[in-house]
Amino acid sequence: MDLNGKKILLGVTGGIAAYKSCELLRLLQKKGAQIRVAMTEAATRFVAPLTFASLSKCPVYLKDGAVEARPFQHIDFPRWADLYLVVPCTANAIGKFAYGLADDPVSLCFMSCTCPRLLAPAMNVAMYNSPAVRRNLQTLRSFENTYVLESPAGELACGEVGSGRLMEPADIVSFIEGGSLPLVGTSSPTTPSSGGHPRNAPAALFNCHPREGGDLPELNDPALPGHGRTVLITAGRTEEAIDPVRYISNRSSGKTAVALASVFLANGYSVEVVAGPMEAEFPGGAAVHRVRSACEMHRAVMERLSGADALVHCAAVADYRPKDPAQSKIKDSRSQLVLELVPNPNILRDSVAAKKPNQVVVGFALETDHFEEHAQEKLRKSGADALLLNAPVAKDSGFGFDNVNYALVTPGEKVPEMQMGSKVELSETIVDFVNRKLEERHG
Ligand SMILES: Cc1cc2nc3c(=O)[nH]c(=O)nc-3n(C[C@H](O)[C@H](O)[C@H](O)COP(=O)(O)O)c2cc1C
Repeated sequence: MDLNGKKILLGVTGGIAAYKSCELLRLLQKKGAQIRVAMTEAATRFVAPLTFASLSKCPVYLKDGAVEARPFQHIDFPRWADLYLVVPCTANAIGKFAYGLADDPVSLCFMSCTCPRLLAPAMNVAMYNSPAVRRNLQTLRSFENTYVLESPAGELACGEVGSGRLMEPADIVSFIEGGSLPLVGTSSPTTPSSGGHPRNAPAALFNCHPREGGDLPELNDPALPGHGRTVLITAGRTEEAIDPVRYISNRSSGKTAVALASVFLANGYSVEVVAGPMEAEFPGGAAVHRVRSACEMHRAVMERLSGADALVHCAAVADYRPKDPAQSKIKDSRSQLVLELVPNPNILRDSVAAKKPNQVVVGFALETDHFEEHAQEKLRKSGADALLLNAPVAKDSGFGFDNVNYALVTPGEKVPEMQMGSKVELSETIVDFVNRKLEERHG
């Protein structure tokens, strides 16, 4: 989206990151956008309305503003806007938006605006991960024209470390300009297509697809097999610390998980991803939670499992981690160094053990020899509903490449012959299986 001449309504709610919305306002203005501001009462305790009024050169819409002079601000402001940003967006505001409460300027504008709405949540990690906030964000993601930015992990204002930071204002601006769009122009439920739209928004974004003039694709269609269903995907690799600067990892690029997320989205699913480090970027529309180590991934999956209808465990998780990572960098003593490794938790097995009977779990098995035998053994031991066997045997296939040699192994059935196909085709095989299984279990 070219911001020049665009009218942007900025809703500010009462979080500690409210001061960052001043910087956002300035950045948007530098791109040529016109800004108006609405604030909650709580927000005015963090930044004075006079600051926003001075920067935007326009009166701020406040609860106790000059109502007589401007009685219809709650309709006029949103109607004026091409885009409504709520930055920062508190847990409280998220709850109000999700439940249709409208008792302050920001929630009133949310309810009455018809332009795209982009929310940047910011809060303490425990609040961000609380079941209520997760559920409310999920609800908001199902609203038409409503998009939610990820709140990246890092040091929070409260001193704790974790997810819940406000996305940096510069990243918000480049996202809006870049217009990362989800799959559009889907010709069939399992076939995604980029529709020619750029996908150059920061990787950390999720469920964020501001319009570029045209309408967004209708992925909320009740006819799609994933409508009203959620899939949880693990993605990328894990990094197991040896010391503060070194780690054990593997070569997974995360491309398969990205293809999977795209195909699930095209099938109408809400997609949640727990992603370790990876290079590939997720499409807008997927809610991405970043982790680093296998233990962090295990925790994040177990926390989210109950909210999912299906889990596809695609991440390349390290089987082992150093027993006692050094607290400071290990010095080069030129003598032999022995690393003691301990097994990591088995996320696939633990999630199968914890799942409800109607949840579907698909695992991945990367094998380099005795493919069928190893895959069947892993499937049996894990108790998963299916295992995607893949083998980087052919030249230009496997890690980092777009093609892969694969077969879907299911209990009690002969292992099908492995076939070479794209990661999207592989994903379609999995999504078709999950669609079928969920249909069988839920009718
Ligand atoms: C110092 C301080 C910092 C706060 N920071 C946040 C925050 O970052 N995110 C959040 O959701 N709530 C935060 N809160 C709580 C909100 O201010 C509180 O829920 C308030 O009712 C939000 O109102 P609003 O959503 O109408 O702006 C904070 C409260 C205090 C006192």
